Amino acid sequence: MKKDQYILGIETSCDETAASIVKNGTEIVSNVVASQINSQKRFGGVVPEIASRHHVEQITLVIEEALHIADMQPKDLDAVAVTEGPGLVGALLIGINAAKAFAFANQLPIVGVHHIAGHIYANQLIQPMEFPLLALIVSGGHTELVLMKEHGSFELIGETRDDAAGEAYDKVARVLGLPYPGGPEIDRLALESEEEIEFPRAWLEPESYDFSFSGLKSSVINYKHNLEQRGEHINPQHVAAGFQASVVDVLTTKTVRAAKEFNVEQVIAAGGVAANKELRTSLEAMFKELNIPFYVPPISFCTDNAAMIAAAGSSMFSSGVRGTLSMNGRPGMELVSWNK
Ligand code: KG4
Ligand code: ZN
Repeated sequence: MKKDQYILGIETSCDETAASIVKNGTEIVSNVVASQINSQKRFGGVVPEIASRHHVEQITLVIEEALHIADMQPKDLDAVAVTEGPGLVGALLIGINAAKAFAFANQLPIVGVHHIAGHIYANQLIQPMEFPLLALIVSGGHTELVLMKEHGSFELIGETRDDAAGEAYDKVARVLGLPYPGGPEIDRLALESEEEIEFPRAWLEPESYDFSFSGLKSSVINYKHNLEQRGEHINPQHVAAGFQASVVDVLTTKTVRAAKEFNVEQVIAAGGVAANKELRTSLEAMFKELNIPFYVPPISFCTDNAAMIAAAGSSMFSSGVRGTLSMNGRPGMELVSWNK
């Protein structure tokens, strides 16, 4: 009988300090996330220095808690998987150094995971992945369409040329005077709104799967300035609804076109913006009509967590990937295949 595999995942690339133990790459044994959102809220965004300081304070506690909840000892683990990049370098280093120290002290192998591979593999915690698979990754730092023909194989078919979708949400929220992070706030306002302002869609070249959101952000800013010059006030709900309609329309249309072109067996969405209710509804409806299975993880697995890092790390570990104790934080790390 095959022995069960237990991976400890560690994630500190942005503003969540997280540790999780995952069994056989698919089953969550424990999942601990210490969020810094409340303290970052005061600054209207993530301040790298503050993020690092929080990670230092939390990381040991979070790892201990993950082991405690799982009722496991380090010797019960098979490997440690940690986010190697991309992300804030100071933040990444806290998780990486904790992972290296833990791996060294307990003589465990270590695996460095790409944050986006983690977001994609969050889906593996919900249902098995079927290939070819199309993943739409939409987060605070990323907007990407990735084609996977098998486990550990990634082909980037489209990406943002400027702002990430979540970044656009956060910036527009700031323009509307909403707290950080802006995504959930805009989502809520848009759902309540009965009207929407018409904003442009950046389709780019007809064949392109790339995205662009900075023009949309500028349109919102211009709209606000024009009204203010006339002594009028904007209605945040109507702006939120119009902005979100534009983002959701472009994301849905391009994802659907790619799914058809590459004849995929499964479509998944991942990343913080995949928590967006309108985006989920829109993608679900489109893929239901096309009869292509579409999945998106529950909201707590869309935003940053370490279970997703353990899930991706498990697939890498099973393919023979091993990191070394010279691992460093890689803020601009590219998503490369580990199954070539
Ligand atoms: O994946 P994530 O937790 O961190 C990164 O890796 O970036 O994503 C955070 C982003 C933020 O920009 C946040 O505003 C956005 O996800 N977000 C949302 C929603 N919930 C979080 N955007 C739109 N609608 C939401 N409901
Ligand atoms: Zn993320």
